[in-house]
Amino acid sequence: MKYKKYTRLNNEALPAIGFGCWSIGGEWNNIEDSKSIRAIHTALDLGVNFFDTAPVYGKGHSETVLGKALKGSDRSKLFIASKCGLVWGEDLHVDVNLTRESLLKEIDRSLTRLGVDYLDVWQCHWPDKDTDLKETIEAMEEIKEMGKIRYIGLSNYSLEQLKYADSCGEVASFQGLYNMFEHNPDTYHGIPLTYKTKDEILPYCRENGLMYLPYSPLFQGLLTGSFKAEGNFDENDKRSENPKLLGETLLSYLKIVDDLKVFAKEIDRPLSQITINWLVAQKEVGPIIAGLDHEKYAKDTVASLEWELTAEMQQQIAEILGKYDLDKL
Ligand SMILES: NC(=O)c1ccc[n+]([C@@H]2O[C@H](COP(=O)([O-])OP(=O)(O)OC[C@H]3O[C@@H](n4cnc5c(N)ncnc54)[C@H](OP(=O)(O)O)[C@@H]3O)[C@@H](O)[C@H]2O)c1
Repeated sequence: MKYKKYTRLNNEALPAIGFGCWSIGGEWNNIEDSKSIRAIHTALDLGVNFFDTAPVYGKGHSETVLGKALKGSDRSKLFIASKCGLVWGEDLHVDVNLTRESLLKEIDRSLTRLGVDYLDVWQCHWPDKDTDLKETIEAMEEIKEMGKIRYIGLSNYSLEQLKYADSCGEVASFQGLYNMFEHNPDTYHGIPLTYKTKDEILPYCRENGLMYLPYSPLFQGLLTGSFKAEGNFDENDKRSENPKLLGETLLSYLKIVDDLKVFAKEIDRPLSQITINWLVAQKEVGPIIAGLDHEKYAKDTVASLEWELTAEMQQQIAEILGKYDLDKL
């Protein structure tokens, strides 16, 4: 395993690759829990001790499965990141709520599902337009004082909101959409994004020592080279709701994938590993929270770290990507 360090996380050694736990919540492909648990154990054996989950992934199921898989592990050797702010009631309708009152309840629910006493990073999943971020961050600082979380993170906020949050407490990490095709994406699953990862957030993280957690590093599988022009998901798969993975937009992306496949063949490396190493090479990019829900994915993805992209290879990738207006696709 390769490690990186960030000043806002007290220079702890964090693995270059982490385990993204959305799909093990069961909303992607009805994966069986036993398979998810095997994948988590395989990842742990390979040195992946960073896990990113959220209460809303499978309405508690992802946190519960992760908790089961990690039971008996040395807690001090694990780094668990979860999120807050997307809550649901009996009718399972999800609302955004980042009030102090809600946060005080949410943290205990996450800790119970995960079977742990504290989270390493607790991240506001999406902004709550009805609650002042000051109330949210101060409540998170209070929960940090109680010892229930170690660091505060934000996900999907604008640079302006990040700076404001930073003036109300200490934000250690930012999680956002970032991969070889989506540098400054405007939308995620059709939801408008108010941040520019490459142009705004990464420079802020670099200058201030925050860790940047890139989500959908493999573009939900598109950047592994395995997608066809259509019929990639069944109807229960959340990815079938991502407009970028359908119709004309998908076809435009597949042209670039084809160019990258030629390059991958030339250097004799899998496209998925090229994609991961493109992120690993960027200093402020922290654990790459890839969806590693099969043992094979965990093994293949961690094997990316057995080699590095040379400067020449990085230049060749930049030339291929430079032929397309990625932010406009
Ligand atoms: N903060 C947020 O708002 C937010 C939003 C989205 C995601 N996230 C986090 O980011 C994590 C990862 O993002 P993601 O799940 O969207 O996507 P991802 O890591 O970009 O893609 C995961 C998919 O890629 C394929 N795959 C993974 N490893 C592979 C390998 N070695 N070889 C071939 N295919 C491979 C699998 O697809 P198949 O199953 O089709 O084979 C897998 O389901 C999530 O689990 C979650 O923790 C956060």
